[in-house]
Amino acid sequence: MGVPFFDLKRQHGSIKNELNAALQQVMDSCRFVLGEKVKSFEKEFAAFCGTDFAVGVANGTDALRLALLACGIGKGDEVITVPNTFVATTEAISQTGAKVVFVDIDPQTYNIDVSQIEEKINERTQAILPLHLFGQPADMDPIMEIARKYNLKVIEDACQAHGAEYEDRKAGSIGDTGCFSFYPSKNLGAFGDGGIVVTNDEEVAQRVRMFRDHGQIKKYEHLVEGTNSRLDEMQAAILEVKLRMLDEWNRLRRRNASAYDDLLQNVNEVVTPLEAECAKHVYHLYVIKTHRRDELQEWLTSKGIGTGLHYPLPLHLQEAYQYLGCGEGDFPKAEECAKQILSLPMFPELTREEIEKVVSEIKAFFARRQDLSLTALVGRGG
Ligand SMILES: Cc1ncc(COP(=O)(O)O)c(C=O)c1O
Repeated sequence: MGVPFFDLKRQHGSIKNELNAALQQVMDSCRFVLGEKVKSFEKEFAAFCGTDFAVGVANGTDALRLALLACGIGKGDEVITVPNTFVATTEAISQTGAKVVFVDIDPQTYNIDVSQIEEKINERTQAILPLHLFGQPADMDPIMEIARKYNLKVIEDACQAHGAEYEDRKAGSIGDTGCFSFYPSKNLGAFGDGGIVVTNDEEVAQRVRMFRDHGQIKKYEHLVEGTNSRLDEMQAAILEVKLRMLDEWNRLRRRNASAYDDLLQNVNEVVTPLEAECAKHVYHLYVIKTHRRDELQEWLTSKGIGTGLHYPLPLHLQEAYQYLGCGEGDFPKAEECAKQILSLPMFPELTREEIEKVVSEIKAFFARRQDLSLTALVGRGG
């Protein structure tokens, strides 16, 4: 029995009729761009996050970029973030004209090491962009405190953290803006690309609304040059159906994570994810750490078990960011993490049997390693 890394077919099977009906409604309305579905989904997603406003955009990258622009970030500014993220986080910063400034991570949660932020702040720093990696919120209270002290904006990258919580507040609702991706594999995913910005600031919401639609607030009245970054009606219709399932799907992800945690408890070579006390992790990814990562991944692949690397090379060591002048050893925790982390199969519909299969193959791998080491020792007369 193989185990897929991710399987959307199971999810769609359970809500097929609702999805079909929602799509049919859009087809019947013949309104495909910025119609009633986008409006109602925005309202429901804002309520879900506990924010006053939500503005749908074309993808998560644009959510970040337009949120940064709406917060006034641009040329000459510096924005602080982490190097162990998907490149979209930093693309969004650079595309506003601002400079990316990296801070290393906490090796236990893999999120920004808050104690290292202040030393990176100077007169050009305008914002902190914390990432809620793998579905666990960054330590937001101290981040907000630093932001208040230095008068900085906070743009949350919540692209992997739909429904996650920090001290009972939803990820994305704590900073000046929260940005989400609806890429199909996310905890809340569309049938293509999609994204959204949430905020309590009416002006910021208004600016994102203007930027996403060619800088206009009224047809053919362009206050600024914007872009075309609208959430489609079809995607909003699907997301509206799926949003109703999100809490339950996150509950099932947490149940699956807890099963992995229990079953891996006595595997000394594996570090399971730590859920911080202040956080409710929604396990967009279930990521373990091990010194034998590459060999283990190969072993699992040979057994038909899907795995992933998120992410194999930190951004400061990528060709695209050579111009920043960073090098090996600059962010040691992020670098170590990139070499050791392995994402295991994780989705709501994953069965107990499948989790047991993954863990039994992990155990078999380490038992085999031990046998090989013993044989080598005996061979050497040890
Ligand atoms: C952390 C993070 N930020 C930003 C993005 C960008 O989202 P999108 O692919 O919707 O542009 C993603 C999505 O993969 C992500 O994981």
